[in-house]
Formats: sequence, structure tokens, C-alpha cells
Amino acid sequence: MDIEKLINLSQKPKIFEKSETAFWDDPHISKKMLEAHLNPDWDAASRKFSTIDASVKWLNEDIFPNKDIKILDLGCGPGLYASRLAKLDYSVTGIDYSQRSINYATRKAEENNLDIKYIYQDYLTINFEAEFDVIMLIFCDFGALTNKERNILLRKIYKALKPGGLLIFDVFTDKNRDESDLGRTWAIKENGFWSKEPYVALTETFLYQEKDTFLDQTIVMTEKEINIYRLFNHFYTKSTIGNILNKFAYKDHNYYSDVTGKKYKDESKTITVITKK
Ligand SMILES: C[S@@+](CC[C@H](N)C(=O)[O-])C[C@H]1O[C@@H](n2cnc3c(N)ncnc32)[C@H](O)[C@@H]1O
Repeated sequence: MDIEKLINLSQKPKIFEKSETAFWDDPHISKKMLEAHLNPDWDAASRKFSTIDASVKWLNEDIFPNKDIKILDLGCGPGLYASRLAKLDYSVTGIDYSQRSINYATRKAEENNLDIKYIYQDYLTINFEAEFDVIMLIFCDFGALTNKERNILLRKIYKALKPGGLLIFDVFTDKNRDESDLGRTWAIKENGFWSKEPYVALTETFLYQEKDTFLDQTIVMTEKEINIYRLFNHFYTKSTIGNILNKFAYKDHNYYSDVTGKKYKDESKTITVITKK
């Protein structure tokens, strides 16, 4: 075993320093992720189905202006929102860079005769112009972006929205995690989440206080290799997210506690933002 490599990898990296290894699109991890997405009772890769149903009900009844709108779901995963929205007769496009999720979503849409366009693509590379009435990015993916990626995405979404179109997304707040989450854990598995080979996983959580960002870093050691996975999460407040949206010319921001439309409170663990082009 390359102990020196292990020692180097276990250091706290610079904020938003990426790991080389694929996460969402890794063949093994994406299989485990799809199982998590499709578990109706887990708030893991997707929210519980009861929450997703409540979200779609709220969006349909209180937020969307009419049935003729075009919706773009970024990071759509296996299409849990897209399929429910298409059943309500909305025109939906879903984009995701997990090939496994896109394949599953496409197959389900065919089986259920739903007219949904699924695209396997990195959403940071979209290039639509005034095409959508609503763009969604659900389950706090926004906070995993570096500041540079976030800015690219906000510009691209703005361009992709029709005038007056809505951007709907959620982020974690500083009430979601605190310093009690910092520290190290380990796991040893024959065939677990991180690899189908037997592995030891060393996970450490770091906080970048000045940047409001947590990192969950996992080093996975199998007989053959050592891989590292870094999942950053930037948390926001109403004012930090509002100021960023102002810079990109979004207007009329509305804040909720979650994607079912609950009223925002200071102790909310997430903020759902609905803002307008
Ligand atoms: C936390 S899951 C949420 C999935 C879905 N929005 C839901 O709530 O059911 C994040 C999804 O975003 C996708 N994703 C992450 N970064 C992406 C990117 N840059 N481009 C496209 N998809 C991305 C992942 O593959 C994953 O399916």
C-alpha cells in the first residue's frame, strides 16, 4: 500500500479543489445512487416520494402560471419530478450527467408513454436561448458548485429562460450542519456503496468557516487502488443567495423553507428560492 499517497490525500484540500474520480457517473456508484433515488422512503439521492409528490402539487397549483409552459429540470436524476410533471401535461426536458439515471428515466418515459426529452449532458454546458418558462435545480445541487461554476450556471440559466421565466432551486443553510459534524469515520465492506471490490473507506468532514462550506472527503482503498471523492457543500443565507442573484439580474426573489412551499423561518435547514428573469 502507498502510505505516502494516503498521507497526502488525507490532508485538508483547498476549498473546492476537485477530486479526479467521477462520482455521479461512476458505473458502480451510479448503480447504488439509482437504488437510493428509487427508494420511496429515503431522503438520500432524491427526497422521499411523499415529499416529491407534495412539491409537484405545490408547483402545479401555486407556482406555475399555466399548463402551456416549458420546464427544464437540471440534474433530473431518474426523472422523479419530470415524470410527475409530464403526467400533469407539462412539457418537460430533463438533463443529467448520470448515464444510468438518464437511461432509467428514458425507459420509464417510454413505458408510460410520457413525452419527456431526456439529455445526458453536464448542465454547466447548456446553451439554450429564451426557451424555457421554468428551470428547476432540486435537492441542493447548487451548493456543490464552485463559485466559478455557480456563476457560469446562473448566466446560462438566465439566457435559457424566457423573459419573466422562473428559476426554482434549493440550498442548505447553516442550520443544516454544524461543527458537531466534523471529524472522521471509517467503514470496511465487501461490496458497498463506494466499490464492488472489498474496500476500506476513510471519511473526514472539514469546514471552511470563512466560505460557509463543508467538505465530505472519502478515501477509498481497494486491493488495487486508492481513490478519493470530495463532496463540497456551500451553505447560504437569504441575504448571501439574494445578493448573488441580484448580480446576475434575477429579480423578485421569493424564499420558502422547502420545495413544498412552507414558509421560510430563521431555523430552516434549507431555503427554496424562486426568482425571475
Ligand atoms: C442530489 S441528486 C438530485 C436529483 C433530482 N434533482 C432529485 O431531486 O430527484 C443530483 C443529480 O444531479 C446530477 N448532476 C450533478 N452535477 C451535474 C452536472 N454538472 N450536470 C448534470 N447533472 C448533474 C447528478 O447526476 C444527480 O442525478
